[in-house]
Amino acid sequence: MSTEALPQELPAWEDTLTRVPYWIFQRTDVYDLEQEKIFRGPNWNYLCLESELSTPGSYCSTFVGNTPVIVTRDRDGELYAFENRCAHRGALLALDKRGEAKDFTCVYHAWTYNLQGDLTGVAFKDGVRGEGGMPANFCLEAHGPRKLRIETIAGLVFGTFSEDTPDLEDYLGDEVAGRIKRVLNDRNPVILGRFTQAIPNNWKLYMENVKDSYHASILHLFFTTFELNRLSQRGGIIVSEDGGCHVSYSEIDRSSSADTIYADQQIRSDSEYRLADETILEGFKEFDDDITLQILSVYPGFVLQQIQNSIAVRQVLPVSVERTNLNWTYLGFDSDTAAQRKIRMKQSNLVGPGGYVSMEDGCVGGFVQRGIAGAPDQSAVVEMGGSGTSSSDVRITEASIRAFWMKYRNQMGLDDWEKSEEN
Ligand code: FES
Ligand SMILES: [Fe+2]
Repeated sequence: MSTEALPQELPAWEDTLTRVPYWIFQRTDVYDLEQEKIFRGPNWNYLCLESELSTPGSYCSTFVGNTPVIVTRDRDGELYAFENRCAHRGALLALDKRGEAKDFTCVYHAWTYNLQGDLTGVAFKDGVRGEGGMPANFCLEAHGPRKLRIETIAGLVFGTFSEDTPDLEDYLGDEVAGRIKRVLNDRNPVILGRFTQAIPNNWKLYMENVKDSYHASILHLFFTTFELNRLSQRGGIIVSEDGGCHVSYSEIDRSSSADTIYADQQIRSDSEYRLADETILEGFKEFDDDITLQILSVYPGFVLQQIQNSIAVRQVLPVSVERTNLNWTYLGFDSDTAAQRKIRMKQSNLVGPGGYVSMEDGCVGGFVQRGIAGAPDQSAVVEMGGSGTSSSDVRITEASIRAFWMKYRNQMGLDDWEKSEEN
């Protein structure tokens, strides 16, 4: 079956961004098409931190969608990325997540590659005593793993398989690029810890969750109980021009904690729980502004998080239709004082699979995945804040979710949807 024919074979999707059909989270043909059109398509995929490849010869292995990839720093000081796949019969070249290497030798039949991903040697290429071996016209240069283009911003390394992907800063747009630099620029990151969180749902449900400024202070009781994030606080969302990238941000505003908006909605907003040790909430002034929460996403699967002084990057990797891996990397900076480092370590308990703030995000996508079983012909309602996809200074909106679907539908060839002018 040609993948070109697939969109026509998919069910219809209403000509509106305010409805998201549940089949989009359930079908293996959609998953396969996403790998081609999105992850290997004209998008920038987060690969690793530049600081993970600080010395020549260092490498890390990662993924672009489900494609295994190696990122290296060669002796020329430059970064390179190529598929983690031997040109002979397809075995992985790097088996470890990271390390140091002079070159890569495939474990299966010992074909060798340099740090730029070029095939440099074939074991017994000329056979033994004139017998066997590869044909005389076999050309090493004509074989090798596919290579990626690489660009970096503020120490983050992104890669793309496509020649059509615009330059990274154009892809992000000025506002999103500026918000990345706000958190990371001019500082050398230090990795405080990392882990992989396996979540039981389609990757797009997680991206919806990340872009969902409406849910944060409702699902996460910790936020409202301890006055870290309420919808009445100053803040807003920024959506990139093509809809793919977003920023949601807010400022602590103690005056808003006295309002009754949550009580008026008759939704849970407080709890009996109190912290035995409240020092987890004591941060330090880190930025020129008063923003205490900034969640930023880069299409298709990257998240940069600042919650108080907890800074982390998340790489969102689809594993199957109903399984996604989140690779978390928590960051400090080499300029941190010992006291600041301690605060960052403490506040790392706010997020992640057991995090006080965001543990619910690890299961709510699974609730949706289970809830939509048997209903591929039904749709989600994404109408908070209207039908538009624009930036705004309110967060009671699903505009950045609609914007994600605008770019997604376009890239998947599901329509020629144009950005709505309506907010
Ligand atoms: S599969 Fe790599 S050398 Fe054979
Ligand atoms: Fe959340």
